[in-house]
Amino acid sequence: MRLTHIPLFTLFGAVLFSAAAPSPTFHRDVEPIFQRKCQSCHRPGEAAPFALLTYDETKPWAKAIRQAVSQRKMPPWHADPHVGKFSNDRSLTDEESKTVIAWVDGGAPRGDAKQAPKALAWPQGWTIGKPDATFEMPDFEVPATGILDYQWVKIPTGFTEDKWVQAVECRPGDAARQVVHHVVAVWRRPDSPWMKDLAPGTFVSKGPGAGELGMSDGLLADYVPGMPGLIFPAGKAMLLPAGADILLQIHYTPAGKAVKDRSKVALVFAKEPPAESVLNLVVANGRIRIPPGDPNYRLDASVTFNTPVKLLAINPHMHLRGKAFAVQATLPDKTTQRLLHVPKYDFNWQTTYETGELHFPEGTRLEASAWFDNSPNNPWNPDPKAEVTFGDQTTDEMMVMFTHIAIPRTFDRRKLLRRAADSYDRPTAPVPAP
Ligand code: HEC
Repeated sequence: MRLTHIPLFTLFGAVLFSAAAPSPTFHRDVEPIFQRKCQSCHRPGEAAPFALLTYDETKPWAKAIRQAVSQRKMPPWHADPHVGKFSNDRSLTDEESKTVIAWVDGGAPRGDAKQAPKALAWPQGWTIGKPDATFEMPDFEVPATGILDYQWVKIPTGFTEDKWVQAVECRPGDAARQVVHHVVAVWRRPDSPWMKDLAPGTFVSKGPGAGELGMSDGLLADYVPGMPGLIFPAGKAMLLPAGADILLQIHYTPAGKAVKDRSKVALVFAKEPPAESVLNLVVANGRIRIPPGDPNYRLDASVTFNTPVKLLAINPHMHLRGKAFAVQATLPDKTTQRLLHVPKYDFNWQTTYETGELHFPEGTRLEASAWFDNSPNNPWNPDPKAEVTFGDQTTDEMMVMFTHIAIPRTFDRRKLLRRAADSYDRPTAPVPAP
């Protein structure tokens, strides 16, 4: 009899203890999480509509925070946690979300200010350090309402020699942060036919071929809310040739108030030519023909490398019918490695997934698969009765994977891919469906 009482008593004690555990407090438990996972966007001048820096700013949002966190709507992060590892993963761990939810359920108490972490010193302006060169476009007047086509503008660099870019950042003008959905900065060679006749500083919405990113010579950087600039690891840099132009493609989403935008780009140069060059490799499939109503249309694209490569980042890109995306590598020994799985793609968040430095041997095939939902069940679908083809408007589609890879600087990049056409039309080995 006595023996059975002891464990029962211990168990009872444990229950009592956990029920009496004090609720998490803002300063001690929640503020450090918000510093790590929320404040990059939730502070003045950034993309989120309100700040989460202080208790007084945060408290009125407690209920909304509980909901956004428990539904995994915030922080925005769409990669399946079981596939791949990303250095910029901003999702909450289970422990973190439990703490935030318990804090709200416990009445969102302030706690003791002495237990608060030191406030973070957020950078003002550029996140890549002091730039060696900056470029700004002329003012663009964003109206209060309406739907705008993508805007393109050309900015000559005037560089008289090749430059190695160690870090690059592009940012909307400060007044326009809330209406800039994304900025993409690409560069063109001085002798390229693409956008040749576009006068510097003039905005066009759809020049001939303007929509085809593939016609530019390379992607420099992009801006989406909450993403800092790109800093390549030491010994790796991106080539920007003499005389290149920078072209910005900007997507504005008017928000009820007319504002002027002056988006800008900053560059930091490498001190010496790097051992490895960073390339922006676009793996895409342009042969898109999504039947009306099709709930699960699939497209594949792949490339096979002629040299060892290091994969640094992956950014899947689709439009309003985008549903899911998966990336894997098949090595020369036929083993496969899953790299990224986005089970519920969200067009509003163009996320770059930073893979660290994944080494692949020569002969590795990088494979992407995309699924599209053109049915009425897709709440973003502007027209389920339409057949959807390739195009740069969000009502058209794209199947694109932007990547950053590093290869030895002396390797001839024209020989990078085993077959040039590879990236457009080769069905790949089946990638596990979402
Ligand atoms: C990458 C930028 C980014 C990060 C990181 C981020 N947010 Fe947000 N958040 C936004 C933007 C932009 C909005 C407004 C648009 C929207 O709701 O999608 C928003 C909206 C919200 C809302 C309003 C919810 C709603 O349904 O409209 C809450 C609450 C919120 N965020 C809480 C958080 C919390 C808590 C964190 C960290 C745990 C966080 N966010 C991290 C960008 C971010």
